[in-house]
Amino acid sequence: RNRERSIVSVMRERLPRPLVEMLRGAGELAQSLGYGVYAVGGFVRDLLLARPNMDLDLVVEGDGIAFARAFAEQHNARVKAHHKFKTAVVIFPDNTRIDVATARLEYYERPAALPTVQLSSIKMDLYRRDFTVNALAVNLTPGSFGTLVDFFGAQRDIKGRNIRVLHSLSFVEDPTRILRAVRFERRFEFQIGGQTLRLIKNALQLNLFNRLSGARIFHELQLIMEEEHPTDCLKRLQELKVLQAIHPLFQLTAKRIDILEELEKVRTLYTLLYVEPPVTGWKLFFQGLTMNMERNEAAQLLRRLGVAPREEREHLSTREMVGKALGKLMQWREGVSRPSDIYFALERLPLEGVLFLMAKSRKDAVRKHISQYLTTWRFHTLEVSGTDLKQLGLSPGPDYTRILRRILAAAIDGEAPGREDQLAMAARLVKMR
Ligand code: CTP
Repeated sequence: RNRERSIVSVMRERLPRPLVEMLRGAGELAQSLGYGVYAVGGFVRDLLLARPNMDLDLVVEGDGIAFARAFAEQHNARVKAHHKFKTAVVIFPDNTRIDVATARLEYYERPAALPTVQLSSIKMDLYRRDFTVNALAVNLTPGSFGTLVDFFGAQRDIKGRNIRVLHSLSFVEDPTRILRAVRFERRFEFQIGGQTLRLIKNALQLNLFNRLSGARIFHELQLIMEEEHPTDCLKRLQELKVLQAIHPLFQLTAKRIDILEELEKVRTLYTLLYVEPPVTGWKLFFQGLTMNMERNEAAQLLRRLGVAPREEREHLSTREMVGKALGKLMQWREGVSRPSDIYFALERLPLEGVLFLMAKSRKDAVRKHISQYLTTWRFHTLEVSGTDLKQLGLSPGPDYTRILRRILAAAIDGEAPGREDQLAMAARLVKMR
């Protein structure tokens, strides 16, 4: 069934030249060691879909760790080997990474007592994967450089925009693949195939999720929440009754969907601003997912997902702080209230809490000030410091903080824009104390 074709021209067209050269080099090195080497998985899928993907996975027919060591030496890179799994990560000086795995020639026990068959090692490696679209390889070995290896109809499924498993026990072997199926389906705007959909429903009927650790489910949910449109994924998961299989409290309501969609927009805005720190998807979207839950319900859900106690406490306290801040922001009136009130309502919140409040605020002025908080206020506003107060003769004590906060409020409200004004204000406040 393997329909071999060369995709060298596609590689030349879509990949940076140095990368193509590096892939050639990998093939030559493997050959010199007597091995075969393939690029596999998401990298190849995205190459055919013309989507940028720099996460290169290599599979070596031979000793993957030995190959990784030799390859790293050629590129001045480091190697982290995992002998148990016969895998290695090659880490380049610029911190980019390449994963290297070993494909072993082995006998595969087919289910249902069919005869044991020997598969070529790359075929075997690909057969263990989740979906046909991820079970593609490109041969890098010199004589066959750029030959696409497609045993399972991946090209057909990419064309037909289908997510299909390779065999009927796929979800039994690994139920987290149900979440992955939806993630890929929504990301690429593909369709989960009919038979695959039936297998998902079967797996749910068998309660396969009950036996799955929270941590494994949570990992996949985290990946979903790093996607561009997690809400679509979550809606689909609800439609397939996956959310309720994870936990009965895991439910989308119309209100939660609204806020999740708003959160996506706010995150995109924030990301376009290129400010630090980066948003953590799950921390943001779980604020929306646990909206209108009791505190202990939110805690139960997070516990089912194996969220660490520290993270759980942080989530719950953010929820509470967000609730209080929301009350303050609702009362805020343009022209009457002060911008610094917004600063003080936000200052102790984690980034995700601030973004959640932005999504929740319907008033333009409030949103504008939250965005000012994110881009400038929280980094630097004050141009005077404790040292200045000391030089003004202020004796040690709580007055330092109090006075600096008064000046900060004035600076944010535009009443003391520069160092001069702030120093003058400091002098006045020290005298008045
Ligand atoms: N894989 C699998 N079953 C899983 C997880 C992963 O079969 N539960 C396989 C997939 O075939 C995938 C490969 O391992 O192609 C690498 O996994 P990962 O890096 O998560 O997948 P990508 O396809 O690279 O996903 P992404 O585009 O999100 O990085």
